[in-house]
Amino acid sequence: MKRLFGKSLVVVLAAMLAAALAKPALADPIIIKFSHVVSPDAPKGKAALLFKQLAEKYTDGKVTVEVYPNSSLYKDKEELEALQLGSVQLLAPSISKFGPLGVKEFDVFDLPFLMTDDSHARQMMASPMMADLNKKLEDKGVEPLAYWDNGAHVYTANVPLNMPDDFRGLKMRIQGSKVLDAVARQLGAIPQIIAFGELYQSLQTGVADGEDNVPSNIWTQKLYDVQKYLTVSHHGRLTYSLITNKKFWDALPADVRPGLDRAVQESTAFFDDTAAKDNVTAMDQIKASGKIQVHVLTDTEKQAWIAALMPVHKEMQSRFGKDFIERIYKASGFVPPQS
Ligand code: LMR
Repeated sequence: MKRLFGKSLVVVLAAMLAAALAKPALADPIIIKFSHVVSPDAPKGKAALLFKQLAEKYTDGKVTVEVYPNSSLYKDKEELEALQLGSVQLLAPSISKFGPLGVKEFDVFDLPFLMTDDSHARQMMASPMMADLNKKLEDKGVEPLAYWDNGAHVYTANVPLNMPDDFRGLKMRIQGSKVLDAVARQLGAIPQIIAFGELYQSLQTGVADGEDNVPSNIWTQKLYDVQKYLTVSHHGRLTYSLITNKKFWDALPADVRPGLDRAVQESTAFFDDTAAKDNVTAMDQIKASGKIQVHVLTDTEKQAWIAALMPVHKEMQSRFGKDFIERIYKASGFVPPQS
């Protein structure tokens, strides 16, 4: 009897052990942390939430996506380090922030007035020359999965910015790229690199006098509350790259990758559809708030801005090489004005 009891106890224990070992393999999903710095209501915030929904659906729950908006997990610079270390698996930063990764070439897209409209910008990011740049990211352990173009930049400030001289002496927040630094200096302003998560407060407290961004960010971050003037200048663009840790992505099980690839594709299509619309709506809402005076550059003003900023294109030839810049002009459709 004693022996029988002992034997069945062993059987029960063995069964419990087997169940305990089997359970995590069945129940534990792969966790993808997706960190970003904007509001959940901004196009990137919405696309991140859609990605979560689609990724979980197309992998039959084998993947769980945790979305951390509004710099709640990491700020601009930290998030890139965290991705390389594998502490976070997905980000969609502005490509103007790739400098700290040791990939300086992406700064070239900040050359002022390089991309004249949405179709040129998309054409640029889909051009074959992006393959070389993608390879540079991969060499740093970062895999670009898609590019998301979020539209043209406008300036905001606490003084009107109609002509290039109006920037003189202003502390202008920039994202970090060397080209944006050169742009601010060329205008006689003082560039300040400030993380997006600290932007509202910096403008409110006067750490910065102005900044440039897309209307959907200005609206969802309420920057119009702490700025008096907005200039529709369309001097630059905000492009994101949806990036992951290459090692993590390459090691994903074969039955998970197709579902995730599909979720990437569909969230990219959604982003492309949403960004331009949201900028139009945001601009209307900003105007309707009555809190900020909006000025659209006249043709004469715009020509004065282009003339004032062309020296930055020239200066950057030594950084990127004349050939590379000319290839970029070709891909973007930019025709430098005759001097
Ligand atoms: C900024 O830092 O101004 C923006 O790039 C933030 C973002 O990700 O849209």
